[in-house]
Amino acid sequence: AFTPRVFSGIQPSGDLHLGNYLGAIRRFVPLQQSHETIYCVVDMHAITVWQEPNQLRRATREVAAAFIAAGIDPQKSIIFNQSQVVQHAELAWVFNCIARMGWMARMTQFKDKAGKNSENVSLGLFAYPSLMAADILLYKATHVPVGDDQKQHLELTRDIATKFNNDYRAAIGAEGLEPDFFPITEPLIAGPATRIMSLRDGTKKMSKSDPSDQSRISLLDDADAIAKKIKRATTDAAELPNAVEGLSDRPEADNLVGIFAALSDQSKADVLAEFGGQGWGKFKPALAELAVSVLAPMADEMRRLLDDLETIDAVLRDGAERARVIAEDTMTEVRRIVGF
Ligand code: ADP
Ligand code: NA
Repeated sequence: AFTPRVFSGIQPSGDLHLGNYLGAIRRFVPLQQSHETIYCVVDMHAITVWQEPNQLRRATREVAAAFIAAGIDPQKSIIFNQSQVVQHAELAWVFNCIARMGWMARMTQFKDKAGKNSENVSLGLFAYPSLMAADILLYKATHVPVGDDQKQHLELTRDIATKFNNDYRAAIGAEGLEPDFFPITEPLIAGPATRIMSLRDGTKKMSKSDPSDQSRISLLDDADAIAKKIKRATTDAAELPNAVEGLSDRPEADNLVGIFAALSDQSKADVLAEFGGQGWGKFKPALAELAVSVLAPMADEMRRLLDDLETIDAVLRDGAERARVIAEDTMTEVRRIVGF
């Protein structure tokens, strides 16, 4: 039996945004009550595409600040950055030798990110899911809260765990270890609005890595900027529908109603019960007010933390020390199993 343990990570690869908050960070907080929780700033994942070193250092602290400002308690949870626990790289190599080329080649996120230029992206970008599997399985995490966009990668983590347990069945037994050495990690499915779309184009994901998209709501935006971006959000001309079915084929409306629902802990049906039949002139100011009330205090707290780097760095150092203890236990066993 595995300890109920959650692992999740965020890349320090640009501005944290509303999608990262609603789809990931916010969901990490309540899990602290029911699970051991490990939240990682995955800087080794970030460098699969070029990162300017000083910018990477700053973004790493920003993600840590966002974790804390959102309500993750650094005493209860382990907060650290990936590069400080070298066992991630070590286990990822073993997993590179377990995973098959064909498994990796099927990953839709790689195909999206590499585009037509796949000859010229880093080998690390291709192997990214193998490092993600190492992140999760190093801690024998039983559960991972994943966004929609990460489901396929978690499937691959499960495939790697299964193949490792099978390939090394005899060695695991000979070492006197449990035959199910790695857990088959379960996804934790999110509620409404698991995928926040761009406020400029409701068919595109809100993403850190699209510098041309000025509509993205950043977690460091002040109240003014948040309100302006919501006011300018692309919408169709129609009024809000009375029922959720009326949102199909209306990606922008669906997205804004979903954001309202997530920010207010309601269903989309609840939101439409209140706003159905009304125009954007009524809905957008209400959404702006709600978004500001949730996000602005968090932005203030993030800025306060980022003015006090010693505190953030101390949290990351302490987290890395605690993570390393678990990681080294797992790697000690893995080295014996593999024959190192
Ligand atoms: P990004 O995709 O912005 O580069 P990451 O890959 O670091 O961010 O993802 C960090 C977390 O945020 C992941 O759990 C991912 O599922 C979640 N996430 C990213 N973008 C969105 C979005 N638009 N809507 C919901 N969740 C998202
Ligand atoms: Na992502």
